[in-house]
Amino acid sequence: MKDTANIMIVLETKNLTKQFGGLTAVNAVSMTLYKGDVMGLIGPNGAGKTTFINAITGLNPPTSGDVIFFGENTTGLPPEKMCRKGISRTFQIPSPFPKMSAIESVMTATVFGNPPGTIKDPVAHSRKMLEFVEFPMSEDVISEQLNTVQLKRLDLARALASNPKVLFMDEMASGLSEGELLDIMKIIRKITGQGISILMVEHIMQLIMAVCNRLLCIQFGTKIAEGPKDEVANDPKVTKAYLGSNTDEKNKAEELVAEDN
Ligand SMILES: Nc1ncnc2c1ncn2[C@@H]1O[C@H](COP(=O)(O)OP(=O)(O)OP(=O)(O)O)[C@@H](O)[C@H]1O
Ligand SMILES: [Mg+2]
Repeated sequence: MKDTANIMIVLETKNLTKQFGGLTAVNAVSMTLYKGDVMGLIGPNGAGKTTFINAITGLNPPTSGDVIFFGENTTGLPPEKMCRKGISRTFQIPSPFPKMSAIESVMTATVFGNPPGTIKDPVAHSRKMLEFVEFPMSEDVISEQLNTVQLKRLDLARALASNPKVLFMDEMASGLSEGELLDIMKIIRKITGQGISILMVEHIMQLIMAVCNRLLCIQFGTKIAEGPKDEVANDPKVTKAYLGSNTDEKNKAEELVAEDN
């Protein structure tokens, strides 16, 4: 069965490994992201999800293994180079410049995240990003005045400002209300509508099951499943490791999908 939205490969990891001293946080993970994918990266707390993203995006380069982005080996390139190549990410804990306004934060990414001279009007481009993510505050609000949910929205606008081909989102939805979850779901669909492939780390299964086409599950740094979302979500190894018998979460997931349709 074809398990991808499109057959073109945008990103691969091959045996990607990250060790911190004696701890192997990511252990020989090989995966494939296809164009059009919204891939959910799931796994218990401490499984190595954020470390995996950091290893690909260059924030914390891998100990061994390879990252192949559009056929080019980009292993170990620093984040600013990966960003210019077209990989952008949001952070589990966003930390924007506290004294900058929202528009100034996004402008920093617009100016430094794109090849020089390609964005003719950085203010208009940054404003468009804030509108795209439906930033709920004035563009002049100072970052340190924002709550976590607002900061995550600003972080998303910042990540999109560099015109990525692949976007990583690290727990974008944690702490959101039911209504806000529906909003973020619509924004994720708008992002894929722009041709951007997504890898999203998320614990909220209702969101994962609503927006993802494929899932990657890791446990203790090791991949235990990758494939179409229903197949992975029902894989006994995955349910044992992560989903457990949490029928509440599964029921909520079905309700949200129904509400969204
Ligand atoms: N900079 C670091 N130095 C040492 N150990 C680290 C570092 N970053 C992460 N770790 C360890 O690596 C393991 C994986 O952590 P990671 O943050 O990647 O997990 P995660 O799957 O993102 O968890 P969560 O769902 O809680 O965000 C953990 O044991 C963590 O303590
Ligand atoms: Mg994490």
